Amino acid sequence: MIAWGPREKEPLWNGKPAPWYKQKKKLWILIGVCTVLLIIIIIREGAEAARDSESGLGGVSPDSIPKGAPSWLNPFVWEDTADFNLTYTDETVGGLPLMGLDTEWDDSAKANDHVPALEKPWGDYAKRPARGVNVGGWLSLEPFITPSLFNYDLRMGISVLEKHYATFVTEDTFREIRDAGLDHVRIPFSYWAVEVYDGDPYVFRTSWRYLLRAIEWCRRYGLRVNLDVHGLPGSQNGWNHSGRLGPINWLNGTDGALWGKRALEFHDSLSKFFAQPRYKNIISHYGLANEPKMTFLDSQEVLQWTTDAHALVRKNGVSDAIVVFGDGFRGLHNWQGELQGLDRAALDVHQYVIFNTGQIVFNHTAKVRYATGFGPTLVAEWSQADDTDCAKHLTNVGWGTVGPARNSCSCEEANAPVSEWSDSYKQFLRMFAEAQIPQWSYKKGLAAGVLPAKAYERSFDCDLSDIPSFSDLPETY
Ligand SMILES: *[C@@H]1O[C@H](CO)[C@@H](O)[C@H](O)[C@H]1NC(C)=O
Ligand SMILES: *[C@@H]1O[C@H](CO)[C@@H](O)[C@H](O)[C@H]1NC(C)=O
Ligand SMILES: *[C@@H]1O[C@H](CO)[C@@H](O)[C@H](O)[C@H]1NC(C)=O
Ligand SMILES: *[C@@H]1O[C@H](CO)[C@@H](O)[C@H](O)[C@H]1NC(C)=O
Repeated sequence: MIAWGPREKEPLWNGKPAPWYKQKKKLWILIGVCTVLLIIIIIREGAEAARDSESGLGGVSPDSIPKGAPSWLNPFVWEDTADFNLTYTDETVGGLPLMGLDTEWDDSAKANDHVPALEKPWGDYAKRPARGVNVGGWLSLEPFITPSLFNYDLRMGISVLEKHYATFVTEDTFREIRDAGLDHVRIPFSYWAVEVYDGDPYVFRTSWRYLLRAIEWCRRYGLRVNLDVHGLPGSQNGWNHSGRLGPINWLNGTDGALWGKRALEFHDSLSKFFAQPRYKNIISHYGLANEPKMTFLDSQEVLQWTTDAHALVRKNGVSDAIVVFGDGFRGLHNWQGELQGLDRAALDVHQYVIFNTGQIVFNHTAKVRYATGFGPTLVAEWSQADDTDCAKHLTNVGWGTVGPARNSCSCEEANAPVSEWSDSYKQFLRMFAEAQIPQWSYKKGLAAGVLPAKAYERSFDCDLSDIPSFSDLPETY
């Protein structure tokens, strides 16, 4: 046995003098030589690794990035570089960076055989409805969609956020969306992708790059994109998913007009960028503002702002996309005759039955009816979770839930593992989903069989006479 350290006499090997390699002095020489070799190897490998990281970003050298370039133009500080063009450019359109995009694009993909390729016109949405899904809780955080993100230490800030941008939605997400038979993706994002103002805590322009990459991935899978501004400068509803909880500054209060103007400047940049030919076939819907709180704001001011924003977007050359504005929770009857002159504009009604205390008491049959009752209005947000308000953080972290369910509701069935949902509950969820045109996760809904495996093959055809009574389902959970 050879031990490290000084020995009193030469070691023996089977009673004979030990062979050379067992002898102490030679052993130390050997160890010394090996150590030197090892050090040389380590140094060489280190140098190779360093060279790899210099040229490893697709052959891009750090020397090609000008000193002092902002982080959004320096791929060496990005969390994720997959599928970005890493060649430095400070070129902008509408003041927004092109960095990360390839020069050429290909619009020949189609989501499935029931819809046209991107390069072909979609046609009339009333005749060929869009089947889409939101990538919510991603670039605009929503705590009820990603509760884990709201348990972290805020001081960890930016790197945690960028990791979320880089991992919560990936290329696989869009492949799966395509494979589910869907053809449109609504991507919510907020103004700090573009601009920040004094005092803003937001991570500036990091989400921008992830937004652009997501659009390119949609292109790869033939998916059309609904650009959705969840948070406008000043906040249009004062809710966390608009950027922060607090007062509405957009079109409200002493600086309301200033924030209204900033929100128009934001759309000026954004629409100049998305008027580029590369977006003509893929941006099918351009959203002006998600859920402005018109139940509080001066309706006439919101309508005027919407008219101005629509004109600006068209003037800047976003020619083919339908311009979308939120219905502001006014109820459809209040929209009769409003904004009729706007060219290719659509009203976005969010059918979250749970958010309305009067509606959560609807029984299951009535819910399916409600969801089919509006006719050809665009419904960009809905969810199978509408049957209960049991999702964690749905209304807001720590706010509790809405509606009468707050006291009487047991979330046992709704929050049970999907494997434990009864067949009747699954049938209800599936019909409810199909009627609205997922619980919150489309992916989980698919796995549980409460969403059609292919969105274009619905088993429920909106024939209201066919709605069963679901009488074996308890009306409260
Ligand atoms: C990557 O970006 C650079 C700079 O904008 C551009 O010159 C180059 O053509 C792009 N590469 C590809 C593959 O499009
Ligand atoms: C409207 O603005 C005022 C003044 O800034 C503010 O106190 C109020 O809370 C705002 N209203 C809402 C609903 O946010
Ligand atoms: C559900 O509500 C509708 C309308 O409010 C009512 O006509 C129907 O009888 C109710 N169904 C059940 C099973 O209670
Ligand atoms: C909403 O924002 C407020 C203030 O920033 C915060 O205290 C609250 O926890 C947030 N709610 C969430 C994350 O749901």
